[in-house]
Amino acid sequence: MLLKVEALSKHFGGLKAVDGVDFHVNQGEIVAIIGPNGSGKSTLFNLISGTLRPTTGKVLFQGDEITAHKPYRVAALGIKRTFQTTTLFDQLRVVDNLAIGRRVNTKTGFWDALFRTARWRRERDETVGKVLELSGIIGLGDKFFDFVTTLSQEAQKRLAIGIALASEPGLLLLDEPTAGINMEETAEIIELIRKVREAGTTICLIEHKMRMVMGLADRIIVLNYGRKIAEGTPQEISGNQVVIEAYLGGKSIA
Ligand SMILES: Nc1ncnc2c1ncn2[C@@H]1O[C@H](COP(=O)(O)OP(=O)(O)O)[C@@H](O)[C@H]1O
Ligand SMILES: [Mg+2]
Repeated sequence: MLLKVEALSKHFGGLKAVDGVDFHVNQGEIVAIIGPNGSGKSTLFNLISGTLRPTTGKVLFQGDEITAHKPYRVAALGIKRTFQTTTLFDQLRVVDNLAIGRRVNTKTGFWDALFRTARWRRERDETVGKVLELSGIIGLGDKFFDFVTTLSQEAQKRLAIGIALASEPGLLLLDEPTAGINMEETAEIIELIRKVREAGTTICLIEHKMRMVMGLADRIIVLNYGRKIAEGTPQEISGNQVVIEAYLGGKSIA
């Protein structure tokens, strides 16, 4: 078990945005968290990644408690995330964004850079190699030196995934990786997520569109009003009456 969340809650005043949620992610899995807008999905990620401090409950990663650790500490332990709205360095090129994503792995400081020490040279070479490889994986090999502002929405989403992957995380958290893009582009992002998992990264993703995760996730967790209302394989979830009613107001999801 890679990640374990126990009785996790986050209250904003009287609102229970996340309300006593338990779940886990096994090594090598793709786990999807789905639920209507406002059901607490992003808040749950914020609690895991340290962006928000839980009201109650625990988060464990590789057996160690990481509850309320600062975001940079959580990242350094190997949990990386993307945000629902893409947060890239717009004024920079693809290569720069990927290199920045790798910063958590490097130890080079100001003096190393100034004197171009052996460590600086080694880490520079490692970064260049890794970033080149990554740009191929995310399908931006031919856009290596392009500025972020010239990329399509979908390419920007792939870049955001690349930045998170740059530090070779053990667990990747993706918050609505296909929000705001069309069906064809969505299929490409799904393909990329599959490829990332095959390369050995465990993935937990949030999705609003239920259909998108049906062919992708090993396991699905359903939230509604901050509570976990169901958990199971895509097949189990698609036939679950509680989910169909809470999530879709009784409409068929096939
Ligand atoms: N920082 C915050 N302060 C107050 N309320 C918040 C905050 N963040 C989220 N919420 C509320 O918590 C609920 C869950 O939000 P969120 O986790 O973003 O839902 P989802 O990602 O499932 O759409 C919503 O009602 C939202 O308005
Ligand atoms: Mg959200």
